[in-house]
Amino acid sequence: MTVERLELAPGYSISRVINGCWQLSAGHQRTAPDERQVVDGWRCLAEAGLTTFDCADIYSGVEALLGRFLSEWRQGGGDPDAIQIHTKYVPDLDHLAGLSRGQVESIVDRSLARLGVERLDMVQLAWWDYTVPGYLDAAAWLEELRQVGKIRLVGVTNFDVPRLGEILDAGIPVAAHQVQYSLLDRRPEHGMVELSQERGVHLLTYGALAGGFLSRRWLGAGDPEEPGNRSLVKYRLIIEEFGGWELFQELLARLDGIAERHGVSPSTVAARWVLDRLGVGGIIVGARNAEHLEENLRLGDVEVDDADLEDLTAVLGRSLGPGGDTFGLERIPGGAHSSIMWKNLNRG
Ligand SMILES: NC(=O)c1ccc[n+]([C@@H]2O[C@H](COP(=O)([O-])OP(=O)(O)OC[C@H]3O[C@@H](n4cnc5c(N)ncnc54)[C@H](OP(=O)(O)O)[C@@H]3O)[C@@H](O)[C@H]2O)c1
Repeated sequence: MTVERLELAPGYSISRVINGCWQLSAGHQRTAPDERQVVDGWRCLAEAGLTTFDCADIYSGVEALLGRFLSEWRQGGGDPDAIQIHTKYVPDLDHLAGLSRGQVESIVDRSLARLGVERLDMVQLAWWDYTVPGYLDAAAWLEELRQVGKIRLVGVTNFDVPRLGEILDAGIPVAAHQVQYSLLDRRPEHGMVELSQERGVHLLTYGALAGGFLSRRWLGAGDPEEPGNRSLVKYRLIIEEFGGWELFQELLARLDGIAERHGVSPSTVAARWVLDRLGVGGIIVGARNAEHLEENLRLGDVEVDDADLEDLTAVLGRSLGPGGDTFGLERIPGGAHSSIMWKNLNRG
């Protein structure tokens, strides 16, 4: 099986399927994960070639757990340079105003300590509210920390076209932009792909499986009254923007038909579709364990062909949205997409 890799920066390569760790943070699922099983699962993923992990300073408990994984990996004779861990800097909404260089550095130092490394592979900046100035300063401070060797690469997440342009124009060498992109959410096609292509920024995308909705598990299923975890809550709203539960079920049925033809799962087809989009460097797929490893390894060998794309277009052509720029809906004050987010998890 082929595990695709991408040279994200000179001398720095990542697996194009990145293991997402939000699903393991405190409060994401109804039940807390078994840490021993998580670390063993990550080892299986890494040994199979899925060596890159996506994390955040605000994914409570996860940086420290990744630190434990790295330490066991080293003790077991694994090459530490074979593992790539991307984290984020997500300053609290309540502390955006008046953010200082010292505060940024202390959060970066905390990530270094939790992970037990001397340099962070990539730190991706998020900014909850554009009406509070400061994201250019924060990006510049991260860049300074890169120059002194605490960070290897600076990335960003959930910016829109004008703001990413501003950050790039300020001379910040943004290696990657993390955004939502899936069959249900094609907002990056409204300018972000074009800008990223022009300016050499790789898109690392989340949501390819809509938190698991884009899987056979949900084919023919009723609309859940209470989605079981935070990802499902988030993507149930995206399904609504897309056109509602019935149209989503039509898409799932099409995916299932395509999957049957190729002898893979509908999730594999949905994820492959994103991997093949212009500008997409890699997809971040939530990995609570190694349960979906075989399916995700099949990604390297499956081809979504013209007939498949025609099938999908028949449904996508009837989708309503979501419209606008990346993360635009999520920024509407008091809006449904904004209200479900926890914006003060760093606590200072
Ligand atoms: N920057 C941001 O704002 C942001 C936002 C969201 C996510 N992310 C990142 O992206 C990652 C992905 O999160 P997401 O919320 O977008 O979820 P997702 O990747 O769309 O869905 C993940 C879920 O799908 C199921 N799954 C995984 N592989 C599967 C397969 N081959 N077949 C069937 N089901 C499969 C798993 O559920 P089960 O374990 O229940 O089987 C998994 O937890 C996060 O962990 C995080 O690193 C970033």
